[in-house]
Amino acid sequence: MSSPFLWGVASSAFQIEGALDEDGRGPSVWDVFSERPGAVRDGHSPALACDHYHRWAEDVELLDRLGVNAYRFSLAWPRVVPTGRGAVNGAGLDFYDHLVDSLLARGIAPVPTLFHWDLPLALEEAGGWSERDTAHAFAEYAAAAADRLGDRVDRWITLNEPLVHTTYGHALGVHAPGRILEVPEVMRVAHHMLLAHGLAAGELRSRGLEVLLTNNYSPVSPATGSEADTAAAHAYDTLHNRLFTDPVLTGAYPDLSAFGVAEVPGVREGDLKAVAGSADGLGINYYNPTVATAPDEGSGLPFGFGEVAGAPVTAFGWPVVPEGLGRTIDLLRGRHGDALPPLYVTENGCSYEDRVSPGGRIADPERIAYLEGHVAEVEAARERGADVRGYFVWTLTDNFEWAEGYHQRFGLVHVDRATQARTPKDSFSWYRDLVAARTASA
Ligand code: NOJ
Repeated sequence: MSSPFLWGVASSAFQIEGALDEDGRGPSVWDVFSERPGAVRDGHSPALACDHYHRWAEDVELLDRLGVNAYRFSLAWPRVVPTGRGAVNGAGLDFYDHLVDSLLARGIAPVPTLFHWDLPLALEEAGGWSERDTAHAFAEYAAAAADRLGDRVDRWITLNEPLVHTTYGHALGVHAPGRILEVPEVMRVAHHMLLAHGLAAGELRSRGLEVLLTNNYSPVSPATGSEADTAAAHAYDTLHNRLFTDPVLTGAYPDLSAFGVAEVPGVREGDLKAVAGSADGLGINYYNPTVATAPDEGSGLPFGFGEVAGAPVTAFGWPVVPEGLGRTIDLLRGRHGDALPPLYVTENGCSYEDRVSPGGRIADPERIAYLEGHVAEVEAARERGADVRGYFVWTLTDNFEWAEGYHQRFGLVHVDRATQARTPKDSFSWYRDLVAARTASA
């Protein structure tokens, strides 16, 4: 019997757990970055987030009511290995152990991500992703997690959106660790993250486990047919859709000359071998397409951003273009052909300023329309022959949206920041009905 299509929701540890000092968790780069004045909008603190560390059983009940057959969450590396390398914290693993058992008891497949941006602070203090050692530390942590949970969890995601962690965290400085490096040094960070994925994949596979890598993709068009806009779109595509995909599927970096990089620093013999063919599945996080323009003078980047004409936008200002998801899937298939492993849409969703009506109902018709359009694109792509095996809504509960604090609400479930009360939105019932219909007809 082939495994069923996965209908799920996704979350990440730092965005929901809180309990930053409990049961031996060490600090992460996000713990300290979020305390920098101005780093997080309105100084929102991640200390409590959704208090999921204490309310996880209630959240699993919500998943059960939703009827999903899969749940993507992340393990906090600093809970499992508080100083990043060395002693494993059993109590940290216990938390995920209980979560996994509770999911399985409800027929929900756990799909853990090992790194969703919360690097242990001790590793950052030793140089973070600029250091090759961090890749080895990641592989050791992956092995420890797999040793504890691998008897019940067979599908693992190594990294979440390494491009965002690399660029926002190490080039733009707007995410943790808040570094602003020169382009070649940013590429060194990228390489160490890819190497981390490759080494962890080796550990997971040697235990008979399946390995996924989740990237964010955005199909890009030039604003006009001009040569400058076309070159900009090409550069953006290279960075966004190829840098963390080509090495995994083809064993080689794309041409990075648009970024002034002839050779990626830090690559040693054998590295690309460890990375090539290291994914049994590719996770796609898709939110919106991009329009590229020639760069502004002095921006230091080979592209600028244009407007996606005629599209409505979310509360984040992101254009709503469901066809972009179909385009993304087609782009990957066209580019990689038979080398493309099975695909999973590991994140898709939108933020809106949801309001609770006096009767307690939360009507979010825009979110329903957004999700409906994107699910239709996945199903159409499957009909065209794409091997897509899962779809995960971002996210279950409104949560800590990084530098935006709690301002962007992406959840199917509203969270009252003062009381932590969870209230399912209309989109929750909509998704529940969709999942029920699809799993009944499967
Ligand atoms: C991608 C990230 O993986 C997730 O952490 C974030 O909350 C969503 N996108 C929405 O921005």
